[in-house]
Amino acid sequence: MWFLAVSLLILVASTYQINHGNLGDLSNDLSSFLTWKKNFNVTYTTQVEHDRRFQVFQDNCKLLNAIRKLAIDSTATFGFTRFMDWTHEDKMASLSWNQNPDAKPIPNQDPRAKRSSAPPPPTFDWRNQNGNNYISPVADQGKCGSCYAFASTAVVESQMVINNPSKFLNQSYTCLLIFTCYKNVYPNQSEQQLVSCATQTTQATEVYNGQNWNIAYKSYGCSGGSVINMYDYIKSNGQDSETVYPYSNATYNNQNNGSCSPQNPQTTSPAGARLTNYWTVSGEQNIASQVASTGPVAYAIWFPWANSNSSMWYYTGGVYQPLSGECPGQTWTPNQSWGWPGHMLTFVGYNLTANPPYWIAKNSWGPNWGINGYINWYYGNGQCAMYNWAHAATAYSY
Ligand SMILES: *[C@@H]1O[C@H](CO)[C@@H](O)[C@H](O)[C@H]1NC(C)=O
Ligand SMILES: *[C@@H]1O[C@H](CO)[C@@H](O)[C@H](O)[C@H]1NC(C)=O
Ligand SMILES: *[C@@H]1O[C@H](CO)[C@@H](O)[C@H](O)[C@H]1NC(C)=O
Ligand SMILES: *[C@@H]1O[C@H](CO)[C@@H](O)[C@H](O)[C@H]1NC(C)=O
Ligand SMILES: *[C@@H]1O[C@H](CO)[C@@H](O)[C@H](O)[C@H]1NC(C)=O
Ligand SMILES: *[C@@H]1O[C@H](CO)[C@@H](O)[C@H](O)[C@H]1NC(C)=O
Ligand SMILES: *[C@@H]1O[C@H](CO)[C@@H](O)[C@H](O)[C@H]1NC(C)=O
Ligand SMILES: *[C@@H]1O[C@H](CO)[C@@H](O)[C@H](O)[C@H]1NC(C)=O
Repeated sequence: MWFLAVSLLILVASTYQINHGNLGDLSNDLSSFLTWKKNFNVTYTTQVEHDRRFQVFQDNCKLLNAIRKLAIDSTATFGFTRFMDWTHEDKMASLSWNQNPDAKPIPNQDPRAKRSSAPPPPTFDWRNQNGNNYISPVADQGKCGSCYAFASTAVVESQMVINNPSKFLNQSYTCLLIFTCYKNVYPNQSEQQLVSCATQTTQATEVYNGQNWNIAYKSYGCSGGSVINMYDYIKSNGQDSETVYPYSNATYNNQNNGSCSPQNPQTTSPAGARLTNYWTVSGEQNIASQVASTGPVAYAIWFPWANSNSSMWYYTGGVYQPLSGECPGQTWTPNQSWGWPGHMLTFVGYNLTANPPYWIAKNSWGPNWGINGYINWYYGNGQCAMYNWAHAATAYSY
């Protein structure tokens, strides 16, 4: 009995500590580095590189320990992630530094937007609708500020499945020599095409409300871009599949922005996609209704950071709220958008019955970060200016 009570106490105490990130300092010694390398399948080709990255790991441990002390009352947890050997420059390279779209009206009068006035159901998750998962696996943008391409592509991929489930879900294949099995085969669309082709030099004319607008798609390659300009590009040009137009390793490592060589998304195999419509959604309840009625919604945030150090790299679970001083506010000030980095993610669901309530957001930092590549993003105060840049779209698979 005594033993049980003590064990319970220890259990309660350690649960409390895990929830509040207060485990004392994480060790930054060599054995901890080797364990981290093993857990995250990290290898280096040379001893020099190994030693250099061990040094970075130690610096990041210091930073992470400082974050965990600040986060003592946080509803999120912070710990070792894949970013432990990323330098400050590596991290900065993967953020979006310019996301000013062209000055043209963004439609917000799509008929589907009107449907969103209904109050949203209290919980929703496109990864589990009556046993169906409509969401492609989490992708990895690498050390390139191409989040805008990944967030818009995540929306397109989900639309392809939502609008044509029989093409992607429960596909039959032969297993164990003679038996028929079923699995989901998800579309994977080309972010590289957006990074390399939808650039500021690609002029185009778009028609809105019967009026012509001369625009540039303004992707700045690995330096950023905007989701709605990518929507525009995919509406006019379609988007190739990843197989046809793969993400290049040079882009992954931020060595160049790749070259533009689109194929015909209509005739290639696997087929590409086409976007039909997009529109702005503002206010968290409207975004929730939109997610539940139409599909995932891409959104942009001020990237939470203070003095260039961000807690988000080290998020491992719970409901994420920026630490004190990490987000400048709820309103995006265009004047500041060049000096403060941004990031883009995609809402695939939300849970309003949880305490605190949260969005389920798909990130593009690989499946090993956060909660299998996802982050539970606090719902309720428009944190990090997320209100200002939420865009829904409809698209279909050729
Ligand atoms: C490491 O590789 C193994 C084997 O391929 C895989 O099962 C595991 O999920 C990987 N872990 C991470 C964190 O990538
Ligand atoms: C980021 O955090 C590290 C570790 O705590 C610290 O050495 C560094 O000065 C911080 N960077 C800035 C710009 O504050
Ligand atoms: C796929 O199979 C699952 C499990 O049998 C079923 O719940 C789901 O409705 C099926 N989905 C489609 C689109 O046929
Ligand atoms: C789809 O492509 C992206 C970009 O190369 C990659 O990160 C992701 O792992 C791919 N997904 C699958 C399921 O292959
Ligand atoms: C691409 O880059 C990654 C990360 O540097 C590396 O692990 C991988 O081996 C590279 N792949 C190719 C085909 O070069
Ligand atoms: C990618 O393109 C942008 C905009 O043209 C440019 O500023 C940036 O230096 C390029 N990045 C690389 C790695 O070439
Ligand atoms: C824009 O930002 C600059 C630099 O931070 C500042 O000096 C200027 O006052 C700002 N302008 C407006 C209109 O806010
Ligand atoms: C929502 O959150 C509550 C409380 O954490 C949990 O019990 C429930 O399973 C969640 N619902 C969904 C659909 O994830």
